Amino acid sequence: MKTIVLAFPGNEHLAQALARQAQFTHGEFEFRRFPDGETFIRVLSNVEGKQVLILCTLDRPDDKFLPLYFLAKALRESGAEKIELVSPYLAYMRQDKQFHSGEAVTSDAFASLLSGFIDRLITVDPHLHRRHHLSEIYSIPAVAVKAADTISKWIKSNVTNPIVIGPDEESRQWVEAVANGAGIPFEVLRKVRSGDRDVEVSIPQVDKYAKHTPVLIDDIISTAHTMIETIDHLKKLNMKPATCIGVHAIFAGDAFNELKRSGAGQIITCNTILHETNGIDISEAIMAAVV
Ligand code: R5P
Repeated sequence: MKTIVLAFPGNEHLAQALARQAQFTHGEFEFRRFPDGETFIRVLSNVEGKQVLILCTLDRPDDKFLPLYFLAKALRESGAEKIELVSPYLAYMRQDKQFHSGEAVTSDAFASLLSGFIDRLITVDPHLHRRHHLSEIYSIPAVAVKAADTISKWIKSNVTNPIVIGPDEESRQWVEAVANGAGIPFEVLRKVRSGDRDVEVSIPQVDKYAKHTPVLIDDIISTAHTMIETIDHLKKLNMKPATCIGVHAIFAGDAFNELKRSGAGQIITCNTILHETNGIDISEAIMAAVV
């Protein structure tokens, strides 16, 4: 079956990176908004009997979800045989339980909607916390590509004498894999979140690593307050400026500038969401998951 790639606006960088890994036919579709804000979608390429790879990373998902649904529907009606979604950042993974009565468990609801119109999903390091596998909420085949090896290689080539620090227990899965892959020490802190922007992170016990370069790693940088709070501790411990690595560069509002002002060293992210900090190319690992 022939594969044709359709990239949503904002995913062209990914299409180019994937094209360096394998040969694809690039398809076209028209996507625009009517004056009233409603979406117009039209498939322009011949997709009859083909496998279609839609590239659509799902940060700021509420604006993207309906267009994605409309595109999948139009592709199906145009005869596409299989629709695979490459969404390097998968949204709505964090509210995976009801913390208070009446709350929507959006991870389950979102997974069920997406599973209803896509045949297969490929994403990168989804925020699996209380859920351990995407199959617990997605009813379609769903692959979680890991960025750890690529990040390990980047650290080995770019940071002198690193110690990897994870800000909370959830980050252990990434931090441990990255540190072991690079053969470097690591420490995982404890975090208590009391609001969207209010976090307290435990003080790193890094006395014996005083001359090392701290490398903070988290899956998502959103408000950046998790990183900023950790940097504050490291500054008080007279550590070198921390290299901050995020898999997914959400950077809500002014978060990127706040992180820069906090005294961070280099800020670097994987290219799962287009951002000026993208410096770790994850396309080879994504490509390996495309069938
Ligand atoms: C949540 O537990 C995630 O792993 C990240 O630590 C979190 O999303 C970072 O958020 P923020 O940048 O808003 O502190």
